[in-house]
Amino acid sequence: MKSSAIAHSNIALVKYWGRSRHHDSNLNIPLNDTVSMTKYGMMDDCHLQTHTTIEFAPEFNEDLVLVEGHEVIGRHLERIIYVIDRLRSHAKIDYRFKMMSRNDFPTQAGLASSASAFAALSLAAADALGLKFSRENLSKIARLGSGSAARSIHGGFVYCYGGNSHETSYAEQICTVDCFDMHAVIAVVDAGKKEITSDEGHHLAHTSPFNEFRIEKSHQQAQELRKLILDNDFDAVGAIAEANCLYMHAVMMTSQPSLFYWQPATLNIIKTVQKLRKQGLPCYFTIDAGPNVHCFCQSRNMHELLKIIRQIEGVKQTILVRPADHGFVTDEHLF
Ligand code: PMV
Repeated sequence: MKSSAIAHSNIALVKYWGRSRHHDSNLNIPLNDTVSMTKYGMMDDCHLQTHTTIEFAPEFNEDLVLVEGHEVIGRHLERIIYVIDRLRSHAKIDYRFKMMSRNDFPTQAGLASSASAFAALSLAAADALGLKFSRENLSKIARLGSGSAARSIHGGFVYCYGGNSHETSYAEQICTVDCFDMHAVIAVVDAGKKEITSDEGHHLAHTSPFNEFRIEKSHQQAQELRKLILDNDFDAVGAIAEANCLYMHAVMMTSQPSLFYWQPATLNIIKTVQKLRKQGLPCYFTIDAGPNVHCFCQSRNMHELLKIIRQIEGVKQTILVRPADHGFVTDEHLF
């Protein structure tokens, strides 16, 4: 009962920030529908992916998790066990497990490592336990680990229903990798761990006076984006993604305590993107719960944008990104 899977990270175009307080907070039911692009890092050593192997066996005495060779304990371990317990109960198997996982990008730095991690874990564990779940049902399982992970089960462009129960909160594909020309240059400003993780930050969303407005707008924007992606309207998609990102950061900055993820270089990048757009280069930005910036563009402009972003003061690393395929089970085991 051993299986491995690989899944990619994703970048939200309409973001999830804050969980429903009407449901068990462990279910991670987002307050609004979201839209994302699953992302493939186009660098030799960085595809923005997580590779996970899991094995269940009657002789194991305890659940053991190793990420990057280090044993995981505390809240992270609890979340992983919560996901696996759901699957164990579906499969009616109560064997303990051993799991190993490896990311090829900086973890917890606003590049959505939890998304690829819980997507890969759900795919591998369901396969190891012999469960034949649809991708939609797998996305519900991945959501129990982290809300954004629901979207990384799918490839290309993805719509995620916030829903109002475990059954109605899931992700589906809008279209595959080739249907919409959207690439990105990620400007890494700080690859270190964040002080406040998104897991902790979600609890603060409701303390901002702007959160209700953000939720209402995000619902509308998610529906609009689905249509605009299918219409192949890059500028309209980019403009909505940028606006939605600023709504989320306005909520973060005005929550109590205030969450301010930006650094001076973050603002340098925002200003550069806005200037380039005025000069006729179509590009847009978005920022997750961290200081790093994703700058969206179409494939033909990627290298020009890369050259400029690289030179901005405070940009330590750049990663080119295109849409990625869905997560998949692989024969390559880590142990
Ligand atoms: O899935 P989590 O708990 O890591 O939350 C993700 C939060 C954002 O990345 C800021 C937005 C999103 O929708 O991905």
